Amino acid sequence: MTKRMDGKVVLVTGGASRPGLGAAIGERLAAEGANVVLSDVDLPGVEETAALIRDKGGMASAVKHDVASQEDWDKVVQSLIAEHGQLDALVNNAGILDVAGMASDRAVGALRSQFEVNVAGSFIGTQVAVKAMRQSGGGSIVNMSSVAGLVGFRGSAAYAASKGAVKLFSKSVALEVAAENIRVNTVHPGIIRTNMQAAGAGTNSDNYDAIEAAIPMGRLGEPVDIANCVLFLASDESTYVTGAEFVVDGGYTAQ
Ligand SMILES: NC(=O)c1ccc[n+]([C@@H]2O[C@H](COP(=O)([O-])OP(=O)(O)OC[C@H]3O[C@@H](n4cnc5c(N)ncnc54)[C@H](O)[C@@H]3O)[C@@H](O)[C@H]2O)c1
Repeated sequence: MTKRMDGKVVLVTGGASRPGLGAAIGERLAAEGANVVLSDVDLPGVEETAALIRDKGGMASAVKHDVASQEDWDKVVQSLIAEHGQLDALVNNAGILDVAGMASDRAVGALRSQFEVNVAGSFIGTQVAVKAMRQSGGGSIVNMSSVAGLVGFRGSAAYAASKGAVKLFSKSVALEVAAENIRVNTVHPGIIRTNMQAAGAGTNSDNYDAIEAAIPMGRLGEPVDIANCVLFLASDESTYVTGAEFVVDGGYTAQ
């Protein structure tokens, strides 16, 4: 039986964290037949994710990669092409979250480091992927923004600024490469149960009650909720979709 990602080679950044969005995306795409290369600064962690996917019968490998480094991006994509011949989809998922204080008190260094990883990391990745995808006639780039790239969040101004930037550079690149059959879209997760979310909310269960009460669907999202959306965007089911933003938040920003 044909699967939705048969024959496709995909690079997913930030695949070490479990529970994490990159690992869930890798697993979902591999279950649909993709050959998935997972990358992360945490090499043992991402190797473990790839091994777990292979244990379930999927095709997956792991590579060390700091997304803020141009040199790393060039190496990672060159070796992916050398090994697999083409890059069909890139998921710029790696990111960091700053929730250490209100903008009025926060040193500008916090903003710079959010931009270094969340914006420059995805920006360089998009550039390198566009060049690779030109060689093979097209492809799909999925950039992970956030609901914090759509509305304001108290206590995470630097993060929100970085995610808003991801949204708008993605739309701009989408316009530049649309005629080359390269698509660029953003995904805007709400509050999803991952290590990042747990680190941000802490262990106080009252925090979770408050979060769930604010979500119209009454629950946090699961990583697979995001992975299902990315699957659509990475597959040929979305060949007429570009420059668009996909909100997956249980209705949080509909209010
Ligand atoms: N979890 C949520 O509620 C949520 C909501 C909205 C958006 N997001 C976004 O989704 C993405 C994934 O989030 P998550 O919840 O899985 O986070 P996570 O913290 O659980 O995992 C992030 C992964 O990225 C890796 N990483 C960090 N810096 C890196 C770098 N410089 N180079 C390579 N890898 C690096 C980490 O090692 C980690 O494995 C992030 O971009 C995040 O901002 C998450």
